Amino acid sequence: MSEKHDEVSGATTTGHVWDEDLADFTNQPPRWWMLGLAASAIWVVVYWLYYPSVPLPAANSYFKGVGNWSAIREMEADTGEVDAVRGKYENKLKDLTPAAILADNDLTEYVKRSGKVLFGDNCAGCHGTNGVGVKSKKDGLFAPVLNDDDWLYGGKISDIHTTITGGRQGMMVAHHDTLSEQQIDDVAKYVIALSEGRGDSEAAGKAVFMSSDCVGCHGADAKGMQAMGSANLTDKIWRFDGSLEGVKRTIAYGVNSGDPKARIAIMPNFKEAGKLSESDIKKLAVYVYKFGGGQAETPPAAVPAETAAPAKAAK
Ligand code: HEC
Ligand code: HEC
Repeated sequence: MSEKHDEVSGATTTGHVWDEDLADFTNQPPRWWMLGLAASAIWVVVYWLYYPSVPLPAANSYFKGVGNWSAIREMEADTGEVDAVRGKYENKLKDLTPAAILADNDLTEYVKRSGKVLFGDNCAGCHGTNGVGVKSKKDGLFAPVLNDDDWLYGGKISDIHTTITGGRQGMMVAHHDTLSEQQIDDVAKYVIALSEGRGDSEAAGKAVFMSSDCVGCHGADAKGMQAMGSANLTDKIWRFDGSLEGVKRTIAYGVNSGDPKARIAIMPNFKEAGKLSESDIKKLAVYVYKFGGGQAETPPAAVPAETAAPAKAAK
């Protein structure tokens, strides 16, 4: 291509003219730009040589790079760092009772953070995130709320630990064979009245309650017995459906009674099932306790001197 020049400026052009008078000049790009281009070309070569880059013909083989870097090694180094931090706490809590962990602010803080994943993986499906409960429309709460101070089996750290270790399965017999429909209706109305603080207004139902097996499990004061997880019937907290129909159903068919219409309430046994290690169960007990509803244990657990670290500011 012979050299052409722009008529006005005299600059060299490609000879191509756009739109009648727009000429293509042949100016070099600016120097900074050319330097940048050269630098990136060098960078590519260095990068290719340093990091794993080119696949090699042999199966599963590749040029490993002179830097000896690999993503796996980098991840291992990172998780090693995390394990080192966690290991310090894990080693300490391995030998402590849940009550002693609770008495150590540093460890409790650690468990409050690390227990979240454990709880999410193993418990939240039934108890809801942070123990707020999961409601089923038909049957009421699927599993008890864990972040309040109402406990079927007790809210001391040792009670909670026992619950998670061994599981729980409250049993209330069915009454459709032992009580008439009228009696079931009466006693259901009495139980609802109790929860509203006007138990005495349901004399007929009260008479049924006092003269049947209700007293044996729920107590004459109807406040429940921790040893068998029988519900406190005098509070406003309903585990199952608290409507008249719902309460009648609970009374007629029972809980875990074997009756096909019984309400089902099974807290799995996490230790025997081998699902969780001892440490994990302890951590979960502390984690659940710290939802806020945990009850004080007497006497307070002794803390070995070296674990009694100063409290960290709550976040
Ligand atoms: C399959 C569902 C299910 C799973 C999973 C489950 N729970 Fe439960 N949990 C229950 C039921 C149902 C009850 C009530 C048992 C009863 O009424 O007798 C219960 C009871 C409890 C209680 C006693 C509450 C009270 O009022 O005394 C605690 C504490 C508890 N669960 C903690 C946990 C923890 C921690 C986990 C995870 C490791 C967990 N649960 C996993 C269903 C479940
Ligand atoms: C064998 C022991 C037993 C007997 C007898 C018994 N209960 Fe229960 N009852 C329980 C247990 C245990 C629970 C708690 C079940 C659970 O949450 O796991 C319960 C739960 C209930 C509930 C549900 C409370 C809620 O929060 O939803 C009601 C209502 C109730 N009982 C009423 C009665 C009445 C009325 C009688 C007498 C006719 C009676 N029970 C007899 C053991 C018993």
